[in-house]
Amino acid sequence: MLILGIETSCDETSASIVRDGVEVHSNVIISQIKAHKVYGGVVPEVASRKHTENISFVLDKCFKDANLRPSDMDAVAIANEPGLFGALVVGCAAAKTFSFVNDIPLIGINHVLGHLYGNYLSGKAPEFPYIALTVSGGHTFISKVTDHLEFEILGSTRDDAAGEAYDKVARFLGLGYPGGPIVDKLAAQGDDSMFVFPKAMQKDGYDFSFSGLKTAVINKVLSLTDEPETLSEKIVMDLCAGFQKSVVEILVDKTILAAKNNNINNIVVAGGVSANKALRSFFQQKCNENNFELFIPDFVYCTDNAAMIASLGFFKYKKGLTDDLTLKASPSFVF
Ligand code: KG4
Ligand code: ZN
Repeated sequence: MLILGIETSCDETSASIVRDGVEVHSNVIISQIKAHKVYGGVVPEVASRKHTENISFVLDKCFKDANLRPSDMDAVAIANEPGLFGALVVGCAAAKTFSFVNDIPLIGINHVLGHLYGNYLSGKAPEFPYIALTVSGGHTFISKVTDHLEFEILGSTRDDAAGEAYDKVARFLGLGYPGGPIVDKLAAQGDDSMFVFPKAMQKDGYDFSFSGLKTAVINKVLSLTDEPETLSEKIVMDLCAGFQKSVVEILVDKTILAAKNNNINNIVVAGGVSANKALRSFFQQKCNENNFELFIPDFVYCTDNAAMIASLGFFKYKKGLTDDLTLKASPSFVF
C-alpha cells in the first residue's frame, strides 16, 4: 500500500511516499532555516508564506524521485496537529485537494505521535510494548506504548521542552538557530566538568523541567561577563558541554528507570533532539548495561519529515482510522 505523507507543521515543508509504513520511496524536505535565522527563531507568518511557496515543488519532486504518479497512491496522510496554525493549514489544504482529486482516503496525523514512526523507517521496527522518549522542540515526554496509537503518558516536561532549552541557551550565547545541532557540535569539543549544572526533578518520577537549567546557564554566563559574545571559544564549548551533560543524563536516566519499573526491554527515542550525538551514545551505553534494545531513528528521520507521517498513516489506515474533508488543522496537543 502506497501512502503520500505531507508535513508542514513548523519550518520544514516535506512530502514523502512510503510503502506499507516502512519502505521509503521518496522523502523531500525543504528547510526554512535560512528564512528564520535572521529573526533568531521561527516566525509563524514567514513559515506559512514559505510553505505556500514550496509545497507544489516539494510534491512534484516527491513523485519524480519515487518515479510514481498521483494515481498510484492509496491514501494521503497529513500532519494536521499540533503546530503553527497557518503552517498546518497549507499542508491540510494540499492534502485535502489531493484526496478529493484522486478520490483516496485522507488520514489526519498527530505530528508528535508521528515522530515515533521515524523508527519504523530506520531498518528494524520496534516491537510492542516499548517505552518511548519523545524529545523535540515543542515536546518532551516519556510514554508506555502498547500498540499503534495506544499509549500512556508516564511523565512530561513541566515547562520548556528539551529542544527549546537547547535553542534558548544557543540564542543567549549568540550561537544561532536552531541551537540543538550547534550546541551538540560545540559540546563535543568541550570539557563537561568545567561547569556543572543542576539536574532538575531528579527524584520526581518521570516529569522533567528544563527552564531552571537554562536559567542556571544564563546566570553562569552573566557571572563571567555582561557581553556573552566576548566569551572565549573554549569557555563556550565548556558551557555547552556542561549544559548538555545535564540534559542528556536526566533524559536517559528517567527513560531507563521507566523501562525498569515497567519491565519493558524495548526503548524507543524520537523527535529532533534524538539527533543529538551525546544522547545517542549515552542511551546506547545504558541500554547495553541493562540488556535493553534501543531504537533511535536514522538522522534524517529524527527532525521533521513527511516519511514518518506517511508511516503512521499506514498503521492508522490499517485500523480503519481515516478522515474526511472536514478534518481541521489544530495548533494544540492535549494529552
Ligand atoms: O522534531 P523537531 O524537528 O521539531 C519539533 O517537532 O519541535 O525538533 C526540533 C528541535 C529543535 O529544538 C532543535 O534545536 C533540536 O530539535 N535538535 C537538536 C539536535 N538537532 C535538532 N537538539 C540537540 N542536538 C541535536 N543534534
Ligand atoms: Zn517535530
